[in-house]
Amino acid sequence: AEKRNFTIAGNWKMNTTLNEAVDLVNKIRSGAADFGRVETIVCPPFISLSKVKELLEGTSIQLGAQDVFYEEKGAFTGEISPGMLSSLCRYVIIGHSERRTYFHETDDVVNRKVKAAIRHGLKPIMCVGENLDEKDAGATESIINRQISLGLSGIESADLLIAYEPIWAIGTGRAATSAYANQVMNYIRELLCKILHTGKALRIPLLYGGSVNAENITDLLSQNDIDGALVGGASLKPDQFLSIIRQAN
Ligand code: G3P
Repeated sequence: AEKRNFTIAGNWKMNTTLNEAVDLVNKIRSGAADFGRVETIVCPPFISLSKVKELLEGTSIQLGAQDVFYEEKGAFTGEISPGMLSSLCRYVIIGHSERRTYFHETDDVVNRKVKAAIRHGLKPIMCVGENLDEKDAGATESIINRQISLGLSGIESADLLIAYEPIWAIGTGRAATSAYANQVMNYIRELLCKILHTGKALRIPLLYGGSVNAENITDLLSQNDIDGALVGGASLKPDQFLSIIRQAN
């Protein structure tokens, strides 16, 4: 089998002041010569995007935002539009479980955001995943089915990524086993084949997220339907993040 190109994205969440972001990206940048074919993405807080963009110029490292609103402009205090982001970054995380949980984002909101991002040439990283109760109730597939079907409703573009993040594995230090993650991600792949054309569905990178670190990344990436990782905590530690990228190369 030919070797796949993996995607490793760092979601910094609500961490780093501007100065800390500069420091972190400088450390990551210093290892970029070894990144090879890995599509490496960093997603700092909004306030650091512009500075980090400058620091990434001339490197292969890509930039992403952690969220976007779906309206074009106007009286939406505190929000950031896709048009504001499209000149700054290529990627945007949408529908992270923390946004669904703490900010009550519904599948409809996620769908609007994904559509708006694509309209502006941004590549959404749409996040899905079940919580512990849903997993224990055997409802994982039905939850994933709902999140994917509604989240991608009316979308024909394959210019996006899907991140499977089981909520019980996020920030817990207890990643899903690679076999479990692959099983759910194979289900996601089949779902995408039904929703989009198969050729398109096969081009969509599927990322695993949830306690990814330098110790478990190789095992996760050995699975057929895992094309990369969305890394939280470990993306704030330069040594860990660089090790994850090197192992993906
Ligand atoms: O978006 C990535 C994330 O939710 C996973 O976080 O800290 O478990 O790697 P963490």
